[in-house]
Amino acid sequence: MKISGTPYRTIWPTAAGVIRVIDQSRLPFEFTTLDLKTLDDAAHAIRTMVVRGAPLIGVTAAYGLALALREDASDRHLDEATQALQATRPTAVNLAWALARMRSTVAEVAPSERVDAAFREAGLICDADVEQCRSIGINGLEIIRRLAETAGGRVNILTHCNAGWLACVDWGTALAPIYMAHDAGIPVHVWVDETRPRNQGAALTAFELGGHGVPHTVIADNLGGHLMQRGEVDMVIVGSDRTTASGDVCNKVGTYLKALAARDNDVPFYAALPISTIDWALDDGRAIVIEERSPLEVTHVAGRTSSGVIETVRVVPEASPALNLAFDVTPARLVTGLITERGVCPATRDGLRGLYPDWQKGK
Ligand code: MRU
Repeated sequence: MKISGTPYRTIWPTAAGVIRVIDQSRLPFEFTTLDLKTLDDAAHAIRTMVVRGAPLIGVTAAYGLALALREDASDRHLDEATQALQATRPTAVNLAWALARMRSTVAEVAPSERVDAAFREAGLICDADVEQCRSIGINGLEIIRRLAETAGGRVNILTHCNAGWLACVDWGTALAPIYMAHDAGIPVHVWVDETRPRNQGAALTAFELGGHGVPHTVIADNLGGHLMQRGEVDMVIVGSDRTTASGDVCNKVGTYLKALAARDNDVPFYAALPISTIDWALDDGRAIVIEERSPLEVTHVAGRTSSGVIETVRVVPEASPALNLAFDVTPARLVTGLITERGVCPATRDGLRGLYPDWQKGK
């Protein structure tokens, strides 16, 4: 997608052999990039959310493994690097998926050939993500088009967190259908949940949508249910950090409450995701490890002051403890459908298996 008219991906290798990423911790106030030169750089970028979003975490881990092998291509270092990257963030399964795919590729070749093989494979994962998100966009576009035809006017879509191109390599998952609908001339408007505690909606989704000229309004996280009661939400589309084989959707905390409100108001609720987000080994979403992050993300809020300085301020009494669980699980029964690169299916085991008869391969 474009920033100030220049096309960007969120991550790319430079001619000098480093991996360059957009530093999302500075957005929306500053657009800067950061160079990842080592395994530690990549692990730090994932852990501190310089890069974030399930597919982008996976791609960064893949390049992180390639950088690690450049330092030392031995079996032992391959194991250590995989463990270090795996430990950065636990919930998004794309991370484990990308590391497993990288390992199976590089383990097959001699240590002397591993660096080239690893960078090649990471590049393939990166390019595949772009294509998958583009296909998710095309498949989701048809749902929006049908809604526009039946509603006969502007389609109001609510989304939570950031599942746009910044969360992936390009296009995004939940936002890809929205970009395509907008580009196709369908009048869309997006309700953007601010998404406390880290405000990925207010900071990143609003930045993205604004950059592409998509009409949108940032709302407090708790407003969505009321807007649904007033008939001002036609559909919900969210991304996913891990979708079980039976269709439970784990996504940014607060997603579950939106799904409950959507069900109560007969608003269709979709999750958009690529194959790398499906955890075929897991049936019950309650078994997913939910990332617990620093309470400081709850007790403090970052923003830009009127004098232009980016500052973090405390909003909670000094003595009050805070709990920061980053994701929740929406049971499949509340999900109208899953929008994938292969098509749209019911959030059920049969639905997913129907789209992915070759699911054991995981590619
Ligand atoms: O904690 P984050 O910012 O990595 O969480 C991101 C989300 O929850 C997204 O909605 C999810 O990764 C889907 S991404 C396309």
